[in-house]
Amino acid sequence: MGCPLIEQPGQTSDIQDAARRHLWGHFTKMDTFQREPLPIIVRGEGNYIYDQNGHRLLDGLSGLFTVQVGHGRRELAEAATQQSATLAYFPLWSFGHEPAIRLAERLANLAPADLNRVFFTTGGGEAVESAWKLAVQYFAAIGQPMRRKVISRHYAYHGTTLGALSITGVPSIKNPWEPLLPGAIKVANTNQYRCGMCARAGSCTLACADDIEARIVMEGPDTVACVILEPVQNTGGALVPPPGYWQRVREICDRYGVLLVSDEVICAFGRLGHWFGCERFDYVPDMIVFAKGVTSGYAPLGGVIVSDRLAAPFLEDGRVFLHGLTFGGHPVSCAVALANIDLMDREDVLGNVRRNEAVFDEVMARVGELPIVGEVRGCGYFRVAELVKDKANRTTFTDEECDWLLRGVLSPALYKAGLFCRADDRADPVVVLSPPLTCTADELRFIGDTLVTVFTDAWNAFASR
Ligand SMILES: Cc1ncc(COP(=O)(O)O)c(C=O)c1O
Repeated sequence: MGCPLIEQPGQTSDIQDAARRHLWGHFTKMDTFQREPLPIIVRGEGNYIYDQNGHRLLDGLSGLFTVQVGHGRRELAEAATQQSATLAYFPLWSFGHEPAIRLAERLANLAPADLNRVFFTTGGGEAVESAWKLAVQYFAAIGQPMRRKVISRHYAYHGTTLGALSITGVPSIKNPWEPLLPGAIKVANTNQYRCGMCARAGSCTLACADDIEARIVMEGPDTVACVILEPVQNTGGALVPPPGYWQRVREICDRYGVLLVSDEVICAFGRLGHWFGCERFDYVPDMIVFAKGVTSGYAPLGGVIVSDRLAAPFLEDGRVFLHGLTFGGHPVSCAVALANIDLMDREDVLGNVRRNEAVFDEVMARVGELPIVGEVRGCGYFRVAELVKDKANRTTFTDEECDWLLRGVLSPALYKAGLFCRADDRADPVVVLSPPLTCTADELRFIGDTLVTVFTDAWNAFASR
């Protein structure tokens, strides 16, 4: 029996009206959808999504860098159903359950070197914070309690909860919350197109990697716990590091006894054609942070894969990692992750990415010839086009022009043309592509054709403004 004073719940209004009145969007301009209909996605099938009006779009962003194997996979839904019926929930607090144990084993087998132990969370930001806490507690345990600081890169996004936000380097989303946690230091990123250090001088000396060393020395090496970096940084636009960058960073970390954390929330599970992004660039971190693609988004899950060396002190003297989450390593999510990894293996999804890289290169090279595109970047199934108003001088658009171009012109035009992707101006304006790893060569060509048409129209519209 419901409470007599409250009306019975139900669908009392039109869905747009309900959204306008009750839904709070994430990073969403709420005023826009007070005036205009909110796009509502109702169904996904393969590499496509369908909105409320039956409009079909190629999911060029895998939802949010997440749906590696495409939509509507029955076997992932069935894995969830079966696990819910067997054991829907139990925590990992002094207990175990089969899906988490088997998944931890599976991830340890996939991860390089001695990254053998997994701490599960529910998503990426929590995993980033867990890695930082783990580094701090590890150093306390081995008698170096001053090592608490964390180094990350300008404009890198590592999550929004206050610990992860301290590590995030995007000023516009950090500033309202300052002061954030102390000891979260920022260094140069690997933006070679706008490198203010060495690349534009004609030869790259890896000054961006050396910036990490300079900061460690300046802070005092015995105060720095870890460096957290993405294999390819998303914000700023698929910033692929120059050759040798990761080897230099690894050397620097080793020289000063600092831990190296690879934030692979986007770059793992095939996005760069390997299980983990670090394999692509041939380095071995001390921890790998993952989320998103581990379940292809069919259930929420994240975590940290930790080396045996870091785990060792936690296996002694009744020591406890002072950290936990009710839903970390949820049994249903772990069962889905296992089914997702099985599916990726069986269908050789990583092989599909690697086989189609050359096609994606060609597609993007064509886009890169347009006058509005300053540079195309990225690798695997993770690409961007950076937009400029003067290609020769690499001049970017003003904030007002960006707003007009990205939100007023490109996003609606791409949507109408049947391509879902992301126009992002948290740093310089880019259009980001991160399609399902099951996309075919023809679907990649469709992405290219659509971008060429929509960008050309936008450029003409800009010129005649
Ligand atoms: C590299 C990286 N780290 C961390 C996060 C935060 O993950 P979540 O949104 O699951 O908290 C993201 C999210 O996009 C990310 O891209």
